[in-house]
Amino acid sequence: MQVKIAPSILAADFARLGEEVRTVEAAGADLIHVDVMDGHFVPNLSMGPVVVEALRRVTRLPLDVHLMIEDPAKYMGAFIEAGAHHITFHVETVEEPAALAADLHARGLGAGLSLNPETPVDRVLDLIPHFDMILVMTVHPGFGGQSFLGENLEKARRIRERESRSGLRLDVEVDGGIDTRTVSLARSAGCNVFVAGNSIFRSSDPKEALRALRTVAQKADWKFPEACASRGE
Ligand code: DX5
Ligand code: ZN
Repeated sequence: MQVKIAPSILAADFARLGEEVRTVEAAGADLIHVDVMDGHFVPNLSMGPVVVEALRRVTRLPLDVHLMIEDPAKYMGAFIEAGAHHITFHVETVEEPAALAADLHARGLGAGLSLNPETPVDRVLDLIPHFDMILVMTVHPGFGGQSFLGENLEKARRIRERESRSGLRLDVEVDGGIDTRTVSLARSAGCNVFVAGNSIFRSSDPKEALRALRTVAQKADWKFPEACASRGE
């Protein structure tokens, strides 16, 4: 699966947001990751649809909106109208995740499902066929700059294993504490979409930081499950 780098603007300088996004776009970012927090599902507040709408005007990159909010169904429409391309919500927040994914697909968006560190991977395995992406959290959501919780990578392995048996194509995204050391571990576990906030935007050279992440991820040793190999991926 193609390596994709998704800079998280949570770590950007909001006074220069357009410039920051253009910098990572020029460095080859694949997606722009937008962290939405409601102060209920997570103990922090961040940004809403108005920021997505502003981003839409400064970049052609797909906007990967990560909803860390209690009632995603209530606010999804506003993010779609603002210009989101992919919306990821948390399995802990929704009674019928497959129905919400179907709504997103009907409106032409990609659908992602995320799970917190304390949530067992069994909660998402049977839902894989309904989603384009599963987002494995490697920090407790709510803040950037936290330490990587590597034990969660076992979930990525289980997700890839299930995906390869079903013959589906799935992005496995990892979010929290990704840098040039952890990106390699995550890739080896089967992740292919890497969210990175601090390690890109707080670096002295964000372009170089992004390129280094991609280079390390691409070099990491990921043994494709047999079913993928037989499909020629
Ligand atoms: C955490 C957010 C992350 C965060 C990652 O709740 O979902 O996307 O911005 O930041 P870093 O890469 O700094 O851990
Ligand atoms: Zn995120």
